[in-house]
Amino acid sequence: MALILMDGKEIQIENGATVLSAAYRNGIEIPHYCFHPAMKIVGSCRMCLVEIDGMPKLQTSCSTKIGEALPNRKIDGKYDMVIQTQSEKVKKARKTTLEFLLLNHPLDCPVCDQAGECFLQDYTYEYGSSHSRFIEEKLVRPKEDFGSGIQHDPNRCIMCTRCIRFTREVSGTKELHKIERGNHNKIGIFEDKPLDNPLAGNVTDVCPVGAMLPKDSLHKERVWNYDVAETVCGVCARGCNTNVSYRENQIFRITPRRNMDINDWWMCDRGRYFHHEFETKNRIETPKCRQNSELISVSWEGVFNFVREDFARVRKEQKDNFSVGIVASPFLTNEELFTLSDLAHSLDATVYRFVDTKIGEKQEFPQGFKISDDFSPNSAGLDKIFTNADDVANLKKHSVLFVPSLVAGFEFSDSTVEQMKKAKLVIAIQDEKSAISDFANAILPAQNFYEKTGSIVNEDGWIQRMNPIGQSEKFRYNNWEIFLKLQNLLVGKSAQFSSVSEVFSNVIREKFGLEATFFGLKKEAIQMNGGK
Ligand code: FES
Repeated sequence: MALILMDGKEIQIENGATVLSAAYRNGIEIPHYCFHPAMKIVGSCRMCLVEIDGMPKLQTSCSTKIGEALPNRKIDGKYDMVIQTQSEKVKKARKTTLEFLLLNHPLDCPVCDQAGECFLQDYTYEYGSSHSRFIEEKLVRPKEDFGSGIQHDPNRCIMCTRCIRFTREVSGTKELHKIERGNHNKIGIFEDKPLDNPLAGNVTDVCPVGAMLPKDSLHKERVWNYDVAETVCGVCARGCNTNVSYRENQIFRITPRRNMDINDWWMCDRGRYFHHEFETKNRIETPKCRQNSELISVSWEGVFNFVREDFARVRKEQKDNFSVGIVASPFLTNEELFTLSDLAHSLDATVYRFVDTKIGEKQEFPQGFKISDDFSPNSAGLDKIFTNADDVANLKKHSVLFVPSLVAGFEFSDSTVEQMKKAKLVIAIQDEKSAISDFANAILPAQNFYEKTGSIVNEDGWIQRMNPIGQSEKFRYNNWEIFLKLQNLLVGKSAQFSSVSEVFSNVIREKFGLEATFFGLKKEAIQMNGGK
């Protein structure tokens, strides 16, 4: 261990830690661009310069290691290193570095999508000069399409090379390079090799300025207008942590949220852009029931009455042949599966599960980021909650069938659909029209993946909490409440859960053998059974 003095503060730190890391771990901010904790240190932007006693020049704090830079020396007979991060010399260096970085930078903050979360803006405001001595004409170069929906603006680039290092060290695909010399130096791709890898969108996240932007959300909204839901991606069984930026229930972008146990700093492009799959005109927003072979919109009371009366009628007609089937799927949260299992239990129903979710390709990248081959978010939760469910491919003829929705890209097979059609009463709990809507007798509108609150379990056993975009007014019931309501309606009683956190505590205790609170999952996921 070393004892250092930074801005007058005594800090105990292990030898080998960088000055930048020592600063951040002790609440001292040092501005920086090229340093990223996931990538090799290059010390190129010169923004993180600090003054160190005994070293004649300013040093880059991202690359200077405690115990190695000044070995075997004690300052004041006590300190291994004495560092100033706010001295006049440091402030002047930051000012000149920023002046240099801004030489060719356009003054287009008002139209730049990075505005509001741009480190060039923030550091210039905090540490920069109010004027530039550059009177020459600025170098203006055209924007470029790098592929994978990424637009590069070389005029805004500060050549920190984070994007290049990302493709070399994280995705391992090496599409980006430094090209040209001197003033004309820029990030480039080879003509026949565009940016094309499943993690490409992350280069927009690592870019500290507005040089790499996703065309997907370009000029659609200013970042300060977004509301952000800290949630978990549901497009594969990895469960990457994400921030969903939205406004008035419309999603504009999805970006990764750091979780070193699951996704580090990254997410895949499929998860990043999957929300577009939900921008269809097929949304089911009102309850519906079938009358004279026509589906008509009714109130919630209307659909519940319809289900109660038809369920009783079918039971009476079918007598000894009466049976109920329920389809569970790994697209449902633990809370939905738990209340669905209660419904199944109280109706003595046969439970089937949708299993065909391993349609992806297992991928692992050089630093260990993974994409699962299971394109559902909660197969592990389904395994715990429904231990005896049969494959939906074996669906038998039932008098009544309950079918919750799958998600975009998944459908029941034709033979399963034909088998479903044989039921006398099909009750669909669906967010969008599907093959089931063509013959369902009642449809109850459901929340889609981004609108739910609940928990899911990733393929390593991490139980994580999903948070919804806004509090959607248009849905009167959460999906888990619909299952409880159906149970109450058809059996006359159900568990009395008043909130998702209550359901969570119960499912987690009964099915996972754990004690946890739903809101305790906000920052930390819990891992069941130490993972798989
Ligand atoms: Fe240290 Fe760029 S962050 S030189």
